[in-house]
Amino acid sequence: MKVLVISASPNTDGLTAACAHAAVEGLHLAGAEVEEARLTDLGVGVCQQCDNGWGTCLKEHVCQVEDGFQALHARLLAADGLVLVTPVYWGEMSESAKAFTDRLRRCEATRGDESGLAGKPVLSVAAAGGSGNGMITCLGSMERWMQHVRARTWDLIPVNRWSRAYKLPAIRAAGEAMAREATVTAQR
Ligand SMILES: Cc1cc2nc3c(=O)[nH]c(=O)nc-3n(C[C@H](O)[C@H](O)[C@H](O)COP(=O)(O)O)c2cc1C
Repeated sequence: MKVLVISASPNTDGLTAACAHAAVEGLHLAGAEVEEARLTDLGVGVCQQCDNGWGTCLKEHVCQVEDGFQALHARLLAADGLVLVTPVYWGEMSESAKAFTDRLRRCEATRGDESGLAGKPVLSVAAAGGSGNGMITCLGSMERWMQHVRARTWDLIPVNRWSRAYKLPAIRAAGEAMAREATVTAQR
């Protein structure tokens, strides 16, 4: 199983990075092939709401705004599963996570059951490193996004500074379980 682990914080040593690292550890324990992507390094801009609101995303299922989006979109389509880890900003996904998921949704939700994420397991993690508020609203929008692209909600994990010590092992276990299930299914 190949899993893409996307993290959406500019900080390389914060809570978001620790959560992504825990997921990678778990995936490796189960023998998954892991690719990591740090969204803030990849130059993925926001949707330009082309033309009357829909661009090539509607019928061709590709984004016409050329930037770092296309390469990451292709990497995700080639993966069997996704781990998406975002810091909680204002009770939402970070701007980089929102920009990528918005554009991806336009391209894939418009394919209905043919979505490139249809049935693929997605583990979403919301890391609230400040007040600890807003984890649930953040996960709520992540869950809606997962449903729109027809992904399978493997899990939605909130983590803050106080829960970090016991949530990191849970994220590791979730990654491991996700990859193990895929291996068992493939062997049937
Ligand atoms: C613009 C902005 C908004 C934020 N909003 C929240 C918030 O609503 N709740 C919270 O707990 N932390 C909030 N934080 C703190 C981040 O969640 C915290 O920095 C996060 O864990 C990212 O840390 P990391 O980048 O080290 O992973 C905010 C941070 C920024 C920069």
